[in-house]
Amino acid sequence: MMPVRSKKKLVSRRAGQPRPLVARTAKPDTRLSDADKFLLPTYRRPPMLLTHGRGCYVYDAGGKRYLDFLGGIAVNALGHAHPRIVKVVRREAARAIHFSNLYHHAYQGPLARKLAEWSGLDRVFFANSGTEAIEGALKLARLCARSSADALAGPAAKHRILAMDNSFHGRSFGAVSITSTEKYRLPFAPLLPGVEFVRFNDVADLEAKFDGTVSAVILETIQGEGGIHSATEAFWNRARGLTTQHGALLIADEIQCGLGRTGRKFAYQKFASKPDIAVVAKPLAAGLPLGAILTTEAVAARVSPGLHGTTFGGGPLVCATALEFLRTIEDEKLLENIRARGAELLEGLAAEAKNFAFLREVRGEGLLIGIDLSVDGAPFVAEAMRRGLLINCTHDFTLRLLPPFIITKAQVRDFLRLFRSVLASTPKAESAPAPQNTKTVPPRAHSAAR
Ligand SMILES: Cc1ncc(COP(=O)(O)O)c(C=O)c1O
Repeated sequence: MMPVRSKKKLVSRRAGQPRPLVARTAKPDTRLSDADKFLLPTYRRPPMLLTHGRGCYVYDAGGKRYLDFLGGIAVNALGHAHPRIVKVVRREAARAIHFSNLYHHAYQGPLARKLAEWSGLDRVFFANSGTEAIEGALKLARLCARSSADALAGPAAKHRILAMDNSFHGRSFGAVSITSTEKYRLPFAPLLPGVEFVRFNDVADLEAKFDGTVSAVILETIQGEGGIHSATEAFWNRARGLTTQHGALLIADEIQCGLGRTGRKFAYQKFASKPDIAVVAKPLAAGLPLGAILTTEAVAARVSPGLHGTTFGGGPLVCATALEFLRTIEDEKLLENIRARGAELLEGLAAEAKNFAFLREVRGEGLLIGIDLSVDGAPFVAEAMRRGLLINCTHDFTLRLLPPFIITKAQVRDFLRLFRSVLASTPKAESAPAPQNTKTVPPRAHSAAR
């Protein structure tokens, strides 16, 4: 390890931490100015560079440490540089990063088996991202909407897709078509035809919009971007009942809430029934890009070679890493940790809500937590960052916490202490609209780019 040099040049280093890439300096950083000048301006980013992470912390180029309660928006579920993940990535990178989906390799089969065991579903297709997996799920819905007697051309008899108000499913044409937020959709119209939005958790609205022309109902089991709203049991059961009765598919988007985030392997496992398709991505390969469509034998029976595919999806490096991710959750009993730490967080935040009147509601499951404010959330995110804490704000007024599954009791305490100081010191800006009815969530304009 390199020795720590003059304190003037380099910020002092905690034992075991790599050396910061650059000294704190007033000189303009060309890496930031290059980003400003040459990137498409799709994100509003703070003017700092992250350089590395260890466990539940990340570090910027000046050596400042941040407690990471955003976890790469639910991706870094094992934190940063987890030794088991580092070992697998190193080993596999030296063996083979990519072959081709024209050939078998050692990890797709075992990973598909593990995902089938975790989900209770039967078959898996690997993609590169959440959006891409959603896209594939929509294609499967269209495919299954054709009676087997139908020619594989021409419009399907069942062409409609029911999606949810307040939803987020990604950025491709299919995914934005089923995403309700207008600012994500309208600039790209015309979108996929046949999509209609149902008020989330409103059984009567679902029943009114459902008929024999529906090919699929798609919902996030817990809406993430929409502000952490869980599907109710009554709504799930009715969606399951109607789709089964009319030969349509129930698709659960578990990209943000699945793979352990709630303290269950899949968020839908609190319900008595399964979806026909579950879509996962974010944490699956511990930070490497990998998504997956999980489905039943009945859906798989409609698929034949050539109908769908991908160049990169499910290569040996990402699949080996994903297998290690799932085994680590099992071996380290992380589902228990998620439940225990999640309960501590909810309890601590509920106590804060008594001290700060602008904390309107705290809700969530496991380590997916939303804090509804009656004032604009963005200044709290900025103040938290100043104080060495990464959090996020969604839907303007909901602070979102997505800490790694390995978070410790002491780190939860540190978070609560830091968060209290953020709440106490942040200037309060714009007031939020009247409290939402969380059973039927009205759409609200989003502000922050994700
Ligand atoms: C619920 C949900 N679905 C889909 C997506 C899109 O996934 P990706 O960004 O990997 O394309 C996201 C991403 O935030 C998500 O939260």
